Amino acid sequence: FKVPVAVNEPVKDYAPGSLERAEVAKTYKKMYDKTIDVPLFINGKDVKTGDTATMSCPHDHKHILGTYHNAEKKHVEKAISTALEARTKWAEMPWEQRAGIFLRAAELIAGPYRAKINAATMLAQSKTIYQAEIDAACELIDFLRFNVQFMTEIYHEQPASTSGAWNRLEYRPLEGFVYAITPFNFTAIAANLPASAALMGNVVVWKPSDSQVFSAKVILDIFKEAGVPDGVINMVMGDPVMITDTILASPDFSGIHFTGSTNVFKDIWQKIGTNIHNYKTYPRIVGETGGKDFIVAHKTANPQQVATAIARGAFEFQGQKCSAASRCYISESIWEKVEKYLIADVNSFKMGSPEDMGNFITAVIHEGSFDKLASYIDQAKKDKKANIIVGGNYDKSEGYFIEPTVIVTKDPNYTTMSTELFGPVVTIYVFEDKKWEETLELVDNTSEYALTGAVFSEDRYELEVAIKALKNAAGNFYVNDKPTGAVVGQQPFGGARASGTNDKAGSKLNLLRWISPRMIKETF
Ligand code: ALA
Repeated sequence: FKVPVAVNEPVKDYAPGSLERAEVAKTYKKMYDKTIDVPLFINGKDVKTGDTATMSCPHDHKHILGTYHNAEKKHVEKAISTALEARTKWAEMPWEQRAGIFLRAAELIAGPYRAKINAATMLAQSKTIYQAEIDAACELIDFLRFNVQFMTEIYHEQPASTSGAWNRLEYRPLEGFVYAITPFNFTAIAANLPASAALMGNVVVWKPSDSQVFSAKVILDIFKEAGVPDGVINMVMGDPVMITDTILASPDFSGIHFTGSTNVFKDIWQKIGTNIHNYKTYPRIVGETGGKDFIVAHKTANPQQVATAIARGAFEFQGQKCSAASRCYISESIWEKVEKYLIADVNSFKMGSPEDMGNFITAVIHEGSFDKLASYIDQAKKDKKANIIVGGNYDKSEGYFIEPTVIVTKDPNYTTMSTELFGPVVTIYVFEDKKWEETLELVDNTSEYALTGAVFSEDRYELEVAIKALKNAAGNFYVNDKPTGAVVGQQPFGGARASGTNDKAGSKLNLLRWISPRMIKETF
């Protein structure tokens, strides 16, 4: 038995005058004009709690997109019991049926719902159409298609048998339920964390980020239409500590699929440890957390290529990709040229609402993020150790807009070289050509994180030196390319150290965490 061979969804370019551009613009306007109400989703039904919070556009923060409902403890408990009731039937459903549901979801996104999921991601997460397309459409479709293929590859792996004994592995889901906590910055990741666990036969309680509920609702509706049965994926919003504590108190909690901050993940891990004697199984803990991603350029690197990698790697989606470049180390003999190209690139970026599809930069996600970034920029303006060479202005009167900002520092340990900022601010340290190997050590030691990183050089020997020296500094390592934009099925994604458990999203490694096989040996 074969499943359709997974292929990456082609990226549409939304060229001016194209049909797809007109359709997204129309959908954006319609969704902007009509407010929606997002209830909790438990056992396939909407649950309104009456305790609501508002959803707004980051680039137009006075504009309300709608409301969503906050859960109380009893709702979270209901989501858990509902999931457990749905579990047996779902776990015993033939895998072909589960595959069919998620393949159908991929086709619904590729076709009828593409404009809607893109527009929702533009409105609520302030992605440009291009950034929405590569995330909410293509990456999500790819996750759904490739995971089905990886699942079948896993299910086909069987041990050897002898003439007197038949050995077979039965691939079961975890015994209990999985908790998915998802981030605002990728609609695809938000959908994939519950979906990949569910594909492997698990039932899920999903808590999306407050800032992504708007597009999470679109996903939920697509999953329902595609045939995900009631109770299999339940969505709750509200106080994250209450929700997490209620979930971790359940003896049936069997795993967490997380993308978010390092501190939250470590706290959850600690709480799981505290509760460990209450659980029926050892919970699977899978998380992608922080990053302080780097670009390091040797004196032989191509300056134009380095500048473009910094401009795109640091500033696409306002630097809010977990993979975004945020500290760069550039050899002094190429710096003058890199600086010239970089300033020209950044000055060419138009900033404003994603509704204008000519904009490259839009707003950061919320006021908390804006204030934090503004304070680091202010600090750099005052600091003798830092020099802002482009950007540095910000304005939150209409939307949370921060200009793409490049700080150059003479101190490789300057605060913004090691602190995760999660925004459109990149810091550059220019090193002496002869200190290449010391610089590689610095790259390795300056940050606790190890998510993505890139090295640039035209000298294969030096590339090899860097690849070796930075062996543990990044889970996704790029040679002569920007450190963002991993494609499902091509570059499985995940980091180590304080960046996560490195269970590569979009790979068999990840799906293996959501099963607990039984080995059956039968003798004749
Ligand atoms: N796939 C995303 C990137 O690599 C996370 O930028």
